[in-house]
Amino acid sequence: MTLLKTNGLSKHFGGVAAVDKVDITVQAGEILGLVGPNGSGKTTVLNMLSGFLAPDAGEIWFADQNVTRMSTVQLARRGLLRMFQMTRVFPRISCFDNLLVAGMAMDLSEREAASRAAALLEELTLTHVQYLDAGSLSGGQRKLLEFGMCFIKPPRIALLDEPFAAVHPVMRETMADFIRRRHALGQTFVLVSHDMPIVVDLCQRAVCMNLGRVIAEGPTRAVLESAPVIEAYLGNASHA
Ligand SMILES: Nc1ncnc2c1ncn2[C@@H]1O[C@H](COP(=O)(O)OP(=O)(O)OP(=O)(O)O)[C@@H](O)[C@H]1O
Ligand SMILES: [Mg+2]
Repeated sequence: MTLLKTNGLSKHFGGVAAVDKVDITVQAGEILGLVGPNGSGKTTVLNMLSGFLAPDAGEIWFADQNVTRMSTVQLARRGLLRMFQMTRVFPRISCFDNLLVAGMAMDLSEREAASRAAALLEELTLTHVQYLDAGSLSGGQRKLLEFGMCFIKPPRIALLDEPFAAVHPVMRETMADFIRRRHALGQTFVLVSHDMPIVVDLCQRAVCMNLGRVIAEGPTRAVLESAPVIEAYLGNASHA
């Protein structure tokens, strides 16, 4: 079943076609990899899918509803949530309270939010820092906390923008395990990452973008080994 679909999704910034007539489908229960060289338009796609940017043209369909002009809040309430390339947590309150706030913002009772927060802290190996201000955590720990905030009420689809970037390998494995476990339970993801071994490991299918366009899609390994994709990365070798 198709959970999310774009038709001709486009966004220009001045003269730059950041996203140019992109058609992507995400099947329920899959982890779709979204790859491509720096500046190819991946974050801009996620920004439009999650309501942070309005497309110039094209449509977004989520669970058979046209959600193209919906706000981030409307989309989050329907179960479409994204994580940022730059982590966003409340730095001056504790990890535990960050999770509590996230849960209550998603209409959980304080009691339910607290119980889920405790379980997530354990699963994400953050129990020992649960009462520290989120601002005092390492970058990797903040990412793990953001995972918890995103999953305090599991979304129907989670959009992850480079969750593994600049994260210690131990925490990277904690994150990958978290994604694997949720996927086994039926969770749908779109994963943007430059970490190709992790993309091959986690994603059954991948879409590769270059210069705002989709240049390949299909089984992940076949996409990464296809001629247009290799050419796109070599052409941008200084960034890739
Ligand atoms: N707010 C903006 N204003 C102007 N140009 C932008 C803006 N956001 C993105 N761009 C441009 O749009 C293009 C696509 O950028 P985007 O951030 O979506 O790429 P990306 O694939 O996520 O890259 P990276 O892998 O480096 O994160 C780039 O040329 C970028 O410079
Ligand atoms: Mg990006």
